[in-house]
Amino acid sequence: MENVKDKVVLITGATSGIGEATARCLAANGAKVVLSGRREDRLLQLAKELQDQAIYLKSDVTKVEDMLALVKLAKEKWGKIDVLFANAGIMPAGKMAEGDHKGWMNMIDINIKGVLNAMYAVIPEFYAQNSGHVIVTSSRAGTTLVPGNAIYCGTKHFVKVMLQSFNSETNQDGKQIRTTTIYPGAIKTELLNTVAENEHKKAVEGFYEQFGLEPEVIANAVLYAISQPDGVDVSDLVIRPTFEG
Ligand SMILES: NC(=O)c1ccc[n+]([C@@H]2O[C@H](COP(=O)([O-])OP(=O)(O)OC[C@H]3O[C@@H](n4cnc5c(N)ncnc54)[C@H](OP(=O)(O)O)[C@@H]3O)[C@@H](O)[C@H]2O)c1
Repeated sequence: MENVKDKVVLITGATSGIGEATARCLAANGAKVVLSGRREDRLLQLAKELQDQAIYLKSDVTKVEDMLALVKLAKEKWGKIDVLFANAGIMPAGKMAEGDHKGWMNMIDINIKGVLNAMYAVIPEFYAQNSGHVIVTSSRAGTTLVPGNAIYCGTKHFVKVMLQSFNSETNQDGKQIRTTTIYPGAIKTELLNTVAENEHKKAVEGFYEQFGLEPEVIANAVLYAISQPDGVDVSDLVIRPTFEG
């Protein structure tokens, strides 16, 4: 695959689901991957599988020092960083009237501040080398209104407009930095694990089970965006099941 081999790609949320599938897919196409997540056993297992194409650091996106440490590690090992896939996220869904204040704040911390912490760590590198690619996982919830999932929906809108604005800034500054926002529909991952056990969750689980796609389809979208020639910016990709009942 053109323009992928030997690229150094930092992936947050690499311990399961979309991030894990993307790490495998990119490594299979010759990229070097820097794996981030909090579950060290999973990072270790995946890094072993990908051998000399992967390094990892137990890291939390809510801690900016962890994101800076990942970039430092990548530079020490491979001398550069080419792509950030800011993918870590949670979805403790529920109506606002249910008052899950902790869940709301966690979504702000991980889905918004986590993306910003990772971008804070890579932007100086991308500006200095006048190249780079920021890919963010939004959601179809970032394209519409979602009653019953308002805070998650808000976080996914945030990353979309923030990245688009960043893209305008890099253009103003004359920098060759690509940006891509991915908007997945239902994907079979561990994302629903953070939803409280209730009837609504059972219904959503049934929907994902029946119609959800495998995370590899999102990995292929990330691969597609990275593999384009440097002058081609794939700005937005919506990927969803063809049939949703
Ligand atoms: N599955 C879907 O249907 C769907 C649809 C649209 C968008 N998305 C988005 O896709 C992204 C990936 O989710 P997924 O579906 O692959 O779910 P997943 O399997 O639950 O993966 C979530 C990943 O985020 C990581 N993570 C969570 N909190 C973190 C923290 N504080 N610091 C570092 N890593 C953290 C988890 O790693 P650790 O727990 O090991 O830290 C895990 O690797 C999310 O942004 C999600 O909102 C998913």
